[in-house]
Amino acid sequence: MVTLLEEMTKKNNSLLLDTSSGNLLVAQTSSLQNDILTIFNNLAEDPSWSFENLSRKETSYATHGYHRYPAKFIPQLARRCIEDYSAENEIVCDPFMGCGTTLVEALIAGRRAVGVDINPIAWLITIAKSVPIEPKKLKKEVDKLLSDISAFIEFKKNRIKPLKEINIRPVIPNNERIKYWFPHEYIREELGIILGRINEIKDQDIRNFCLCAFSQILKNCSVWLMKSVKPTRDLKKKPVDPFQAFKKHINYMVKGNEELFRLMPEHVKQNLKRYLIAERRDARDLPCKSDSVSLIVTSPPYVTSYEYADLHQLTALWLGYAKNVAEFREGFIGSIYKRTSIHDGIKSEIAKGIIEELEKKSKREAEAVRDYFFEIQQCFEEMHRVLKPGGKACIVIGNTELKKVSILNAEVFVEIMLNIGFRVHKIVKRRIPSKILPSTRDSKTGRFTSNHKADRLAYAYEYILVMEKL
Ligand SMILES: C[S@@+](CC[C@H](N)C(=O)[O-])C[C@H]1O[C@@H](n2cnc3c(N)ncnc32)[C@H](O)[C@@H]1O
Repeated sequence: MVTLLEEMTKKNNSLLLDTSSGNLLVAQTSSLQNDILTIFNNLAEDPSWSFENLSRKETSYATHGYHRYPAKFIPQLARRCIEDYSAENEIVCDPFMGCGTTLVEALIAGRRAVGVDINPIAWLITIAKSVPIEPKKLKKEVDKLLSDISAFIEFKKNRIKPLKEINIRPVIPNNERIKYWFPHEYIREELGIILGRINEIKDQDIRNFCLCAFSQILKNCSVWLMKSVKPTRDLKKKPVDPFQAFKKHINYMVKGNEELFRLMPEHVKQNLKRYLIAERRDARDLPCKSDSVSLIVTSPPYVTSYEYADLHQLTALWLGYAKNVAEFREGFIGSIYKRTSIHDGIKSEIAKGIIEELEKKSKREAEAVRDYFFEIQQCFEEMHRVLKPGGKACIVIGNTELKKVSILNAEVFVEIMLNIGFRVHKIVKRRIPSKILPSTRDSKTGRFTSNHKADRLAYAYEYILVMEKL
């Protein structure tokens, strides 16, 4: 580190590393690209950011365990950024909110939370996780829901008449894909009864809460090959019983809500409309005034890594968010399926080198990476617009590999952000505890594997780029 500092100082302060604080002080020169690469090569890991000793229970405290979500970050990481770089009542924004980790943490810390995501399922989960519901009212409604569903299923199955008449109109979407993923008729029927009864709930917050529970159980009730990040059927799989799975999960969520209700400051709960904005929307069009946001904490999508639309298709099918997967994929950044035709310049020499290298191996993937960097650049421009001068953006990102070409996301992001009016405040290199990051993925099934032929690598490190708007 000291050598690097000396070297940089000799180069007339092109990039200056303050070794005492670990902070980087940056001034742009013609050798920016090389300076960035050198900085990353020499960056030491900061163990205080790996949160290695946290248990699963701790990382899924309160509402954080409501729903699985690919590439979600742990709440403790978001919380530390929020506490370090914002004050109470200031606006904290996550333009790729995913399942709402940043928003929940911001609200608990008494900040105003704004989040968007292109994925409607991300919106549903975020709302369910961040709106605290009065625990007694919720428990009463959930108990009634469960007893109605149970009685109705008994009546349907065994003709056992309930004490009072219960009439539920099952909702089973008329879509071939439902039969494809849920080939067992009794499972489709039971799911239809649960959904039909949820739809009768008048209170919107409680209805969203129940829909989130419903969405979470769908994978286990289907023949979806578990642990796979690509949609693959496993016809040998024995799907779980929908009602039992739903009951177990919603009761777990009821406890999570109690904790959220206890932890959220009273003034935030009383003025939730003022403190929480979560929308299904594109990250390039944030619902924020210019120069209004104090802090952004986010992890952007990766390129050709997770196809969120594919992964969430079961919920999308049942809840009617899209007629087909192709329609559902629109707008997702990082997808292999879409094309952006206009590129008026990616402001990164490192990105251009990567694309050139990739073009030699695969035109399709090179195109996808070009689209990706360009669209991410547009997102950074929007982040720059909404941030206050001096406001920080904490970008959590790891590097990856495609066709044996290193995709240096972190280095590219820093270069783009420097070129559009940010400075580096700090770069943290953190180890991702191995229990949540197996090393390779099979490109056919997307399943994590130890097969060394896998063409895609997931690294054990990621970065938190703490950038400041000039
Ligand atoms: C890595 S995930 C974020 C996970 C999040 N930090 C969490 O803890 O759940 C990236 C997210 O970007 C979203 N996304 C992709 N394209 C988008 C776009 N154009 N606008 C907004 N969100 C988008 C995906 O739907 C996905 O939820």
